[in-house]
Amino acid sequence: MSRQGTETALGPVWITGAGGLIGHALVQLSSERSATDLGTISGGQGCSIRALTRGIVDLTNFAAVDRLFTEEQPVGVIHCAAISKSPACQKDPANARLNNVEVTRHLAALADSIPFLFLSTDLVFDGLRGGYLESDPVNPLSVYAETKAEAEQIILANKRHTVIRTSLNCGKSPLGCSAFNEEMRNAWQLGRTLDLFVDEFRTPIPALETARNIWKLLTAGQTGLFHLAGAERLSRYEIGLKVADVCRKQNPRLMTSLRPGSLAQYQGAPRAPDTCLDCRRIEETLGIKMPLFSTWIIEQMSQAG
Ligand SMILES: NC(=O)c1ccc[n+]([C@@H]2O[C@H](COP(=O)([O-])OP(=O)(O)OC[C@H]3O[C@@H](n4cnc5c(N)ncnc54)[C@H](OP(=O)(O)O)[C@@H]3O)[C@@H](O)[C@H]2O)c1
Repeated sequence: MSRQGTETALGPVWITGAGGLIGHALVQLSSERSATDLGTISGGQGCSIRALTRGIVDLTNFAAVDRLFTEEQPVGVIHCAAISKSPACQKDPANARLNNVEVTRHLAALADSIPFLFLSTDLVFDGLRGGYLESDPVNPLSVYAETKAEAEQIILANKRHTVIRTSLNCGKSPLGCSAFNEEMRNAWQLGRTLDLFVDEFRTPIPALETARNIWKLLTAGQTGLFHLAGAERLSRYEIGLKVADVCRKQNPRLMTSLRPGSLAQYQGAPRAPDTCLDCRRIEETLGIKMPLFSTWIIEQMSQAG
């Protein structure tokens, strides 16, 4: 457990899913938060971070979670753990429901009287319109999105708790296979060609930016529902072209093969065409501007050489 500032008897902030992309980014950035910042969570004194991975506790083991919670008495929870890949949820809906809904319900009940921030998704919308505000009705099309929409309702029933809907997150995950840019690179390394839609739109965001603003929401004591995504509306194909540029700069020998496709020709599980999020609520609340995906790409290009 890493300590922030002076030693204290106060419990930590739990970060679940700390072995994943966004949880890991939250842990990385926790060193940027001052003890005073973190102290605001617990009433003015410093507190610590507890990075929970599956190796420490399987969150579906409710008895073990209860024991750990009683032992550690966290002062806040940022709940990132999930079955986060849509195909895995579609393949095993019962497991998706257990991990995404029942685990969330259980943790939220334990954290009844402390801040609890839950990560949800732009996919709760059907994507027929785009530019979604927090006040817009949801209409999930996939098992993953259904589990997230159901879990959101559990969280929003508690006025101390917070739901953060985000879009595609990029960056560097501990296992190198969770961020969409890593999935693309890994596929190209296997010699695959990526078929990417020119008419499916998202608002991608670096995971570090997501994490930075989650910390801000927590330390500012903000509760309720927030959209947190990038400022640029890009098609999957446009995103792929930009990621390909970075991958080629990092490894000039890599064949970054991608092919434009259209939802009009697609046959398969339902897909949401445009789930772009309107983030004006979080921008106004925190006094921030949502980041541009293109800025992140430029940074990656310059770091690559
Ligand atoms: N990344 C995105 O683009 C994106 C977009 C929208 C919303 N979100 C949401 O944001 C949150 C974080 O996403 P992410 O990309 O960081 O996910 P991720 O990389 O897939 O990480 C999720 C982590 O949760 C862990 N986990 C799952 N079930 C668990 C359990 N029963 N007990 C303990 N640990 C468990 C996983 O461990 P294992 O690896 O051992 O399974 C994994 O380390 C998720 O709720 C996701 O739905 C993400």
